[in-house]
Amino acid sequence: MTAPEWMRHEGLRSWVAEMTDLCTPADIHWCDGSDEEYDRLCQELVEAGTFIRLNPEKRPNSFLARSDASDVARVEERTFICSRTEEDAGPTNNWMDPKEMHEILREKFAGSMTGRTMYVVPFSMGPLGSPIAQLGVQITDSPYAVVNMKIMTRMGRDALHELGTHGEFVPCMHTVGAPLAPGEQDVAWPCNDEKYIVHFPETLEIWSYGSGYGGNALLGKKCLALRIASKMARDDGWLAEHMLILGVTDPEGEKTYVAAAFPSACGKTNFAMLVPPKNFSDDGWKVTTVGDDIAWIKPDDEGRLRAINPEAGYFGVAPGTSYSTNPSAMESVRSDTIFTNVALTDEGDVWWEGMDGPKPDHLIDWQGNDWTPDADRKAAHPNSRFTAPASLNPALDEAWDDPKGVPIKAFVFGGRRAGTIPLITQSFNWAYGVYMAATMGSETTAAAAGQQGVVRRDPFAMLPFAGYHMGDYINHWLAFGRKIPNPPRIFQVNWFRRDEHGRFLWPGFGENMRVLQWIVARARGRALAIESPLGWMPRYEDLTWDGLDFSEQDFFKCMAINRRDWTNELLDVEELFMKLYNRLPKEMEMIRSLTTSALWRSPKNWEMNSDPT
Ligand code: OXD
Ligand code: MN
Repeated sequence: MTAPEWMRHEGLRSWVAEMTDLCTPADIHWCDGSDEEYDRLCQELVEAGTFIRLNPEKRPNSFLARSDASDVARVEERTFICSRTEEDAGPTNNWMDPKEMHEILREKFAGSMTGRTMYVVPFSMGPLGSPIAQLGVQITDSPYAVVNMKIMTRMGRDALHELGTHGEFVPCMHTVGAPLAPGEQDVAWPCNDEKYIVHFPETLEIWSYGSGYGGNALLGKKCLALRIASKMARDDGWLAEHMLILGVTDPEGEKTYVAAAFPSACGKTNFAMLVPPKNFSDDGWKVTTVGDDIAWIKPDDEGRLRAINPEAGYFGVAPGTSYSTNPSAMESVRSDTIFTNVALTDEGDVWWEGMDGPKPDHLIDWQGNDWTPDADRKAAHPNSRFTAPASLNPALDEAWDDPKGVPIKAFVFGGRRAGTIPLITQSFNWAYGVYMAATMGSETTAAAAGQQGVVRRDPFAMLPFAGYHMGDYINHWLAFGRKIPNPPRIFQVNWFRRDEHGRFLWPGFGENMRVLQWIVARARGRALAIESPLGWMPRYEDLTWDGLDFSEQDFFKCMAINRRDWTNELLDVEELFMKLYNRLPKEMEMIRSLTTSALWRSPKNWEMNSDPT
């Protein structure tokens, strides 16, 4: 049980010893992050019944896991921000006194790993040695979490080497909360009905109990890279965001990097891997991926914003992913991928709703039951996932692993909204952009447990991920922009507007390139726009339409601003502002008032009839 000789960090050694005494595992394994270790653990997971090895001819070196039916998504109501005061966590987070929570956790974790192996997983969020990266160490009794962490982070010996003898790391404690009595037979997916996903933002600690799924268990992702990092970022003057990062190369070879925030399961992975329509690619347009979920952004010495993707893989939503919606994701999951809660074909391959081709005649569904197309239930869980290494993405940006990060020229914010929000708007200035992001709403999805399809305010797409008071969060953004000489331009998009029959008005996916082209041109000061009550907007003729049959009328439907919808929207925003009132920057209420009067002064339903500016 002694630490390996390549472990030279006293603080880590004594923390592991303390946690061993608390959790009483049967064994300890220090992860070196090697391929041999990964292969061995995957084989053990196969033998334990957690993994099914997929047909190597169809899906080499890939596995399917089926979770317990109660453990399928992030559990927001069991997620806590335990800052010293409740006020600091703010009204959008669950809070408990840190001392009280520590006592509960000590009790829960006591003996929690009995009969199991405790894995010590050192990892780097971000390229090793990057000035923007952070180190963490996860202790877990879930080998499933370990192999996922190997794909999702830079994990093992190199991260430990980076830590040296005295380096700082975020301690991340994780147990599935299912101790094994002597001789007790394990289940394929151990977990506990009671769950705690807990963050201590002042002491920078994470404790997760009872779940083995996704963001509840892969603690580098939402817990460290968003909730804890957002607090670190505020204290140290940077940004930790729920954003993809992509590069757009134009026909002259000029590269522009864009970071875009969308709530969970709103197409971030698709946008990050966007394949431009044929006429664009024929002209030389290209989109490349730096990251699909999280961006860490810091100003460099010249005041330019530099962003890294702290992750090394994609934990993407499977349903809806196909060669027509996201060919690069489909290529990324051709091998070396872990699938969770998708369906299994009779040939030993995976399947999910929305995959290319006809529905198979027979499948084993995500719960292990026979499934045929006449079944009135989904074969794959709506939040089923693939865990795939970034290195397999054919559209990977050449600078994705650059420790310096990439320079960001534009921020995009987008929700899933059936109405109200136009296809594309550019904010008048930084403060307006912060307002747009702070007031973003989106229909809830299956990524989190709970009711789906209801609009909720999701400021910065960070509602479930901000590690402190949302009012302070908005303030941090405002202050951050003031210090930057030439801040990136800020845009709002909505790919999801529907007509009166419920059909999407905008084709989305690769066609989003048309909007992205305008965003990049505006960010570089090269495209025209008109002033609307909400911000700058392109006219029909400002976007490229070659290769798409989309009339001016179709475009107006995507862009219209309906006064009745906006009256409701602004009332809903007021409700959010009232919730945050004591820490909300004054600018937000002022911009809300300006927007209200701009809307009431403009024609009843605003039309795109002004002159270009
Ligand atoms: C995710 C999420 O898994 O946002 O990325 O839920
Ligand atoms: Mn996400």
